[in-house]
Order: sequence, then C-alpha cells, then structure tokens
Amino acid sequence: MAVTTRILKVALLAQALLGTVLGVAGSVVHERSTESLQYVPICKDIEDVISDASDVFYPLQSDYTTGIEHWASSSTQSSACSVEPGTAEDVGKILQVIAKNRTPFAVKGGGHSPNRGFSSTDGVHIAMSRFGDVVYNADAGTADVGAGLVWDTVYSALEEYNVNVVGGRVPGVGVAGFTLGGGYSWKTNQFGLTIDTVQGYELALPNGTVTTVTSGDEDLFFGLRGGFNNFGIVTKFTLKTFPQTEVWGGLMVFTGDQIEKISTAASNFHNKVTDPKAAIISEFNTLTGLPGVTLNLFYDGPEPPAGIFDEILDIPHFSKDVSTRSFTSLIAATPSQLTSGLRGAFHTVSVTNYSESLMDVILDQLKSVGSNITSVFASGAFISYDVEPFIPTIFTHGSNSAYPPSREKVLFPLNLYYAWTFPTSDDYFQDAIKQSAQAIEEAAIAEGQDVSTAPLYGNYAIVGTDLERIYGDNLPRLRSIKAQVDPDNIMGLAGGWKF
Ligand SMILES: Cc1cc2nc3c(=O)[nH]c(=O)nc-3n(C[C@H](O)[C@H](O)[C@H](O)COP(=O)(O)OP(=O)(O)OC[C@H]3O[C@@H](n4cnc5c(N)ncnc54)[C@H](O)[C@@H]3O)c2cc1C
Ligand SMILES: *[C@@H]1O[C@H](CO)[C@@H](O)[C@H](O)[C@H]1NC(C)=O
Ligand SMILES: *[C@@H]1O[C@H](CO)[C@@H](O)[C@H](O)[C@H]1NC(C)=O
Ligand SMILES: *[C@@H]1O[C@H](CO)[C@@H](O)[C@H](O)[C@H]1NC(C)=O
Repeated sequence: MAVTTRILKVALLAQALLGTVLGVAGSVVHERSTESLQYVPICKDIEDVISDASDVFYPLQSDYTTGIEHWASSSTQSSACSVEPGTAEDVGKILQVIAKNRTPFAVKGGGHSPNRGFSSTDGVHIAMSRFGDVVYNADAGTADVGAGLVWDTVYSALEEYNVNVVGGRVPGVGVAGFTLGGGYSWKTNQFGLTIDTVQGYELALPNGTVTTVTSGDEDLFFGLRGGFNNFGIVTKFTLKTFPQTEVWGGLMVFTGDQIEKISTAASNFHNKVTDPKAAIISEFNTLTGLPGVTLNLFYDGPEPPAGIFDEILDIPHFSKDVSTRSFTSLIAATPSQLTSGLRGAFHTVSVTNYSESLMDVILDQLKSVGSNITSVFASGAFISYDVEPFIPTIFTHGSNSAYPPSREKVLFPLNLYYAWTFPTSDDYFQDAIKQSAQAIEEAAIAEGQDVSTAPLYGNYAIVGTDLERIYGDNLPRLRSIKAQVDPDNIMGLAGGWKF
C-alpha cells in the first residue's frame, strides 16, 4: 500500500511536471475543419443505411470528441463526423457508402498510433468502440475479442477463467492496431507475436461483405497478420488463450546518475537471461533535458527463479513497485497515460544485439538530442529510448505472415518516442527522431550488426518509412492479394501503410 501511494505520488508529480513544463493544453473542443465540411452529406447517407445498433456523431457532441480522440494529440483530426458501427454488417454498409463516394475515411481501434492520418481523417471517422465483447471459449481454448477493445479490458475479462492472451504491455493500447501490425507482448518470448496466436478474423471486406478469415484462407490470413487495414475492417479477433497464474514484476524508476548501470544491466539481461518467462523493457528518457530510466520487469509466474533480475534490483532506485500480483495489476503499474495528450512520434531501429557498445550509442543519443532540444526550445520535451530485448526464438512460434518478412533471422525492436507540446514544433521533432534512429542504425551497422535492410516494426515506424523496410520481400505478394480483395482500392481512402 505504501509503495502504491508512493508510486502514485511520483506519477502525479511527473504529471504535474509534464503539465507545467510542457504546457499541456486542457480539454480541447474539436471544431470541424473546413476541409471536412464537404463530407457531411456522406455522414447523412451513412445515417440512412445503418441499423439501430449504430450511430453517427457530429462536432460538439461528446461521443464525437471521444470517437476521434487519440493517445497522441497530434493524431487527432477533426473529421466530418464520427461513426460508431454496432454490427459487422453495418461496417460493411458504411464501407459501401464510402466506396460509392470515394470518401477519405479512418478506422480507429484504441487510437494509439502516433502517426497522424493512420487512424484519423478529415472525412468519415469510424470508431470501433462498440465492438467491445470478450467471449471465452473454454473448449476451443480461444477468446473472441472485439476490435474496439483495449488490452486492459480483455485481460480483466479473462482473469476469472485463469487464462490470458498474448497482448499489450501497458495500459490503454488498442487490440486492433496492435494485432493487425504484429504485437510484441510480455508473453512473446514464450508464444511469439500476437499475430502468431490469432485463430481467426471477422472481417468486413472493402466491398461490404462480412466474412471470416482463418488459416484455410491462405492469402488473407497471411496478409492480415501484419497488414493493418489494407484488406478491410476487422470487427473481431479470435485469439488463442493460455493458462495464467499470478505474475511477478512491475515498475522501477531510476534517476539519471544510474543510467550507465542500467544500460549495462539491460545489455547483460539480453545476453544472459534465457528463461522465456522473463522479460524487461528499459526506457531511457529525458524530461526537459533531465535523464532518468523507467524499467518494467516481468516474470510469468508468482516468483522468478533466483538471480534473474538481481543486477537490476541491486541498482539504487528512486521508486519501486514490484511484487507478486495479478496480470492486470502488473499492466496497470505503468503510467502510460502520463504523456497522453501531448503531440508525439515513434520511430524504430531493429537490432541484432543490445550490445554494451550499442547501449552506449543509445545513451549518447539520449543525452545529445535531449540537450539539443533544451537549447532549441525554451520549454522542454519528453524523449525516450525503449530498449526491448527478447530471446532469439521469438519468430519461431508462427507461420509466414506479412510481418516479419523473414522468420529466419531474429531482430529486436528499439522504440524511440518523442513527445512535445506545440504543433509548430512537429517538423523539428519528426526530423530529430528520424536522425536519431538513423544514427543508432549506422552505429549498429558499424559494429557489425547486419541491419542495413532489416525489417522495421510497422507499429513503431514513423509515417513516411519506406514500405520495403517493413514488409521486405513480402511486398509483391501483399500487393497482389490486395489487388484481388480490393480492386477499387477502397482501403486506400484510409491512411496507414498502403500496399
Ligand atoms: C503507450 C503505447 C504502448 C505501446 N506498447 C506496445 C507494445 O508493448 N507492443 C507493441 O507491439 N506495440 C506497442 N505499441 C504500438 C501499438 O501496437 C500501435 O500503436 C497500435 O497500432 C495500437 O493499436 P490501436 O488500435 O490503439 O491503434 P489505432 O491508432 O486505432 O490504429 C492503428 C492502425 O490500425 C488500423 N486499424 C485499427 N482498427 C482497425 C480495424 N478494426 N480494422 C482494420 N484496421 C484497423 C488503423 O486504421 C491504423 O492504421 C504501443 C503504443 C503506445 C502508444
Ligand atoms: C552481443 O554483444 C555482447 C557484448 O555486449 C557480446 O558479448 C555478445 O557475444 C553479443 N551477442 C551476439 C549474439 O552477437
Ligand atoms: C540539433 O538540432 C539541429 C536543428 O536545430 C540539428 O541540425 C542538429 O543535427 C541537432 N543535433 C543533434 C545531435 O541532434
Ligand atoms: C466481395 O468480395 C469478396 C472477395 O473478393 C467476394 O468473394 C464477394 O463475392 C464480393 N461480394 C460482392 C457482393 O460482390
């Protein structure tokens, strides 16, 4: 309890600090943009075709505001309307109206893409929030999960059955985008990516027909595992479930004077720990130039075997919330909402080794970019380098899929995350994050890592990344599947990685 209170205090302190330092705006009233006005008649057409299970909302209605909202405020656009379909058939009908008028549109699951336009639009916004059911099928060992859910809700719904799925690691992340892009989970060392656990999709095809896609449908099943919104709108995922006991872990926070020690410990963890139930993420960050580290620890069991986490636990910490707990409590331990509402960008480098020398490069980037930002802007920013080690067998759990383009060679994602306040700084931060990722990739290559053409994870890559870098040799096949399923390129009217 004391620990929880303390963490809460730290979180509130950080939030106050972020709010003050970064000048987070209060609640925003979304006015419709002038470009969006022309699409209002299409919203009316949609109202005419949908059933009572669905609704269309307009600016100044609170459901509109919730509908278009994103984790990163830079991903929120004022659409003509926000449609909340309530049935898969209605999703099909909405797509038919969109197709007929060739209206720009967006599909939003959990709204966690930091890439503007990927799940936002000036046109017709589709919020999937009404697809919120979790149904556990004990006999099949699967769960049907609605495309409007966030992982937290799925985990808590499955908890009473003592089973779980392979999903997100922190609160608030959407099931849909996560699962359509790949899905690096706390359980990935044991069971692979989330796409490796998908048994089926309920999908509204671009022509409006609702269908179910399973492994028997070789092309679409291949394409949907990593191919995002290229093949239609998914309304339901059927995911494999696994037994779930209590877990061990949580969050530790360290001040800047410890970052070299954490860096060494993270590299050692990557190179020495082979227990697939153990995982960490270390997030090296600076807030207005001040460095620090947040470190997530996870063990898929009530107690980790002796020794695994000792090097980390022995480093003097600022705060620690680590215990034996339920899976949902472990997820809730990360305050991922702290920077939500700020503008944001992700980018990524794929590495073959979080070697000590590469960790040094990452720390150098953290410090030099951090101080550069402080010197350029009077107000600060939050920048973060999230080191995500996994064991080398993670790609062996599934069959060929859109992502990763090759399962022969393992890669580990580094996630860069920058957050800032003002739209006028967007270009600066977007350029800075690309430059920093490139510097790290070049350093990895220079130390002998074969990553010059290594696939980048689509859920971490910044908008504008060359499609070849995400899908590699799979691109021709994905394009031909796309041409078959969506000859009129209806899904091209929505943003995202487009085949
Ligand atoms: C705080 C945070 C933590 C994260 N942690 C992890 C992590 O641990 N592991 C990891 O792998 N990734 C992680 N991510 C990245 C995350 O996987 C992506 O942001 C993912 O796209 C989020 O899904 P969403 O539904 O919330 O996104 P959205 O922004 O709603 O959608 C993302 C994309 O998917 C498409 N899409 C959404 N719903 C549908 C649908 N029903 N049918 C067709 N297309 C659809 C959208 O059109 C869009 O192109 C994290 C992101 C954040 C911000
Ligand atoms: C990764 O780098 C470390 C040095 O930090 C080295 O000891 C180890 O052998 C490397 N591992 C691989 C698989 O290359
Ligand atoms: C610092 O910022 C400037 C732009 O203001 C940029 O040209 C330079 O490359 C940056 N340096 C680093 C180390 O990021
Ligand atoms: C929609 O597309 C699917 C797949 O291409 C096809 O099987 C189906 O017949 C089409 N439906 C209509 C109504 O054209």
